[in-house]
Amino acid sequence: MSGLVIAIDGPAASGKGTLARRLAERFGLRHLDTGLLYRATACVLLDEGLPLNDVEAATAAARGLSLVDFDEARLRSREMGEAASVVAAIPPVRAALVDLQRRFAACEKGAVLDGRDIGTVICPNARVKIYVTASPETRAQRRALELTARGEKTDYQSVLADVKKRDERDGSRSVAPLKPAADAIVLDTSDLDIEEAFRVAVEIVERAK
Ligand code: C5P
Repeated sequence: MSGLVIAIDGPAASGKGTLARRLAERFGLRHLDTGLLYRATACVLLDEGLPLNDVEAATAAARGLSLVDFDEARLRSREMGEAASVVAAIPPVRAALVDLQRRFAACEKGAVLDGRDIGTVICPNARVKIYVTASPETRAQRRALELTARGEKTDYQSVLADVKKRDERDGSRSVAPLKPAADAIVLDTSDLDIEEAFRVAVEIVERAK
């Protein structure tokens, strides 16, 4: 049997990244945060002073991507999350990143990948698919706390507006829109803390292993 592939999808600030990282540790698997690929693609364009909707430049940036070239703290900034969702709506950018993600998932032992389209497009045969979600208000609260802890200036209302804008953009694009795979288990973390959410996620994986 092939390795244990765990696909974790969900909207911005749903907690999927933390869950994916902890599941990878728990089950001894590698982890790929696929949002970083889109963030890094956007970062190249911003650094070159190019518009985010420049299809050719964005596609070339995605093709030539090497994550070691980037400062992770900058990639994780609010500005880059917003910019990433613009380049992520460009179909050739998504196409340019498919192989890299599938190669990562094909590792013998398996892997955990988190993003928006892992269970639907990148790894439709993943053994485990979890769609992590929470209300926009809960997600905005968590994201505002996280950004403040990192020293970024923010306020709850503008983070909530960002979260809603990104949901709308990620959910309405023509290619690989954000939605749970038909066979994904939906994990709503609105009323769960991270430990509770992790416990439920581990149970889901144990059952599917
Ligand atoms: O998950 P994260 O917030 O880092 O993702 C940043 C943006 O990258 C998302 O808003 C989304 O537009 C895009 N993305 C995507 N597909 C993925 C991962 C991220 O479209 N698999």
